[in-house]
Amino acid sequence: MTTTNQIPEEFQITALKHQKHYLVNGKLEEWNGETSEVISTISSTEEYKHTVLGSIPTMGEKEAMKALDAALSAYDQGQGLWPTMKVKDRIECMENFVKKMESKREEVVKLLMWEIGKNKPDSYKEFDRTVEYIYDTIEEYKELDRSSAKFQKHAGVYAHIRRGPLGVVLCLGPYNYPLNETFALLIPAIIMGNTTIFKPAKHGVLLITPLLEAFQSSFPKGVVNIIFGRGRAVAAPIMQTGKVDVLALIGNSKSANALQEQHPKSNRLRLVLGLEAKNPAIILPDADMDLTIKEVIAGTTSFNGQRCTALKVVYVHDDVKDEFLEKYSKAIDALKFGNPWDEGAQLTPLPEPDKPDYIQELIDDALQKGAQIKNEKGGWRSDNYIWPAVLYPVSKEMRVYTEEQFGPVVPVLSFSDISEPLDDMAESNYGQQVSLFGKDVYTLSPLIDTLANLVCRVNLNSSCQRGPDVYPFTGRKDSAQATLSVHDALRSFSIRTFVAFKDNDINNETIENLLDAKASNFLSTDYIL
Ligand code: G3H
Repeated sequence: MTTTNQIPEEFQITALKHQKHYLVNGKLEEWNGETSEVISTISSTEEYKHTVLGSIPTMGEKEAMKALDAALSAYDQGQGLWPTMKVKDRIECMENFVKKMESKREEVVKLLMWEIGKNKPDSYKEFDRTVEYIYDTIEEYKELDRSSAKFQKHAGVYAHIRRGPLGVVLCLGPYNYPLNETFALLIPAIIMGNTTIFKPAKHGVLLITPLLEAFQSSFPKGVVNIIFGRGRAVAAPIMQTGKVDVLALIGNSKSANALQEQHPKSNRLRLVLGLEAKNPAIILPDADMDLTIKEVIAGTTSFNGQRCTALKVVYVHDDVKDEFLEKYSKAIDALKFGNPWDEGAQLTPLPEPDKPDYIQELIDDALQKGAQIKNEKGGWRSDNYIWPAVLYPVSKEMRVYTEEQFGPVVPVLSFSDISEPLDDMAESNYGQQVSLFGKDVYTLSPLIDTLANLVCRVNLNSSCQRGPDVYPFTGRKDSAQATLSVHDALRSFSIRTFVAFKDNDINNETIENLLDAKASNFLSTDYIL
């Protein structure tokens, strides 16, 4: 057990953080209503006890409507300051924001560790990766703008084609990447000229609060509105108005579907969704076993398997199953459990207090249906953790085969014919990524051709992952809608819109005058440096 003394001084909780403000219409409004306690499952005392970190406002429909009104009036049916602003001016606001954000690194990272139990290196990485994502987005937007700063002509019609905003975006992020994934939605949505309402995830909410002032002072009023509370209390009423143009959500398909259904005109609603997955690892007989173990360990256990891209089911060929199970089980048991700031901690407390019980249920169900735990430590319980159990042989009747465990438990199946995992993948509700381990090019080639049509990223001898963020991140079936990446997100949060005119003297002269006058922010051939 950890005592306060073992927590490095810089990461100790010295004062509770009671968030008393929320951001609506450019003002940090004071909240005097009901609040909800924010706790960490990490103990600060010798005897286990969760740690209270502070509290957040429990908002409801009234505040949700205020935020919606602010976003609507900032958009002002496309006539608002923000959606009509010059690209270079919007970029300047974003540059201001990211500079202010960088100064909050330590504060945000400390809360990341406490709130969601992410280890120190990964917490810093999440922050730094997000900052880099913002800078990359700015560069990409400049590039997009430069390539639009021209006219084209087809069949006697000139066109000046750009990308314009969509309107009001409701943005909801997940608890496993409360900063990175949320900002991977929010930042491109904002920069493209949309106005936004953002509600942080249930866990990983206090870490957003140090950034409220940066949002407030960097963007015109109403462009970014940040509210707190339960999804069903604040997000559902916003959707019911039918005034939201984009639902941007990273989470699970149940919440996405429930929210989508609240919108009275589904045809008007654009969806940008990153949802659940059950990414498989497929291990062929000629796979390099040491490399495979290393990558499968990373894929199954990074952040305790709480990643949408985690490897959530492992298929291993009969010929190498014994070797794999033995080496993999040993490798899992050799991992180090500790608090996020402990040197070398790879496994860390689970932020959801009921998660160990849920994982236990999956294990019990599998054992009852014929699986065994192959590693010695598998299923060991502590107050805020359950050691990853390697379950074999897993069959389709087991809950761990069908449910997205999103936590530390690893189902393993063996196969003799490659059609077995392929058929399972084709039947699965998910289609995000796969990890394929092997070397023989004549075996790999047809497999790659099939797998590329079942998922959206085939990782060769590598674990599944989202990054680098310049690569497309998407999925088939219940795993995603629309594509995210530095490049794609700008497109997902905008629409092509253009000015067209027939080639004749009057039009040509008018356009030349329009360009000379530099009075339109849309119609412009200025080149942003
Ligand atoms: O939860 C899903 C994340 O997008 C995974 O991102 O692969 O970089 O950990 P990552």
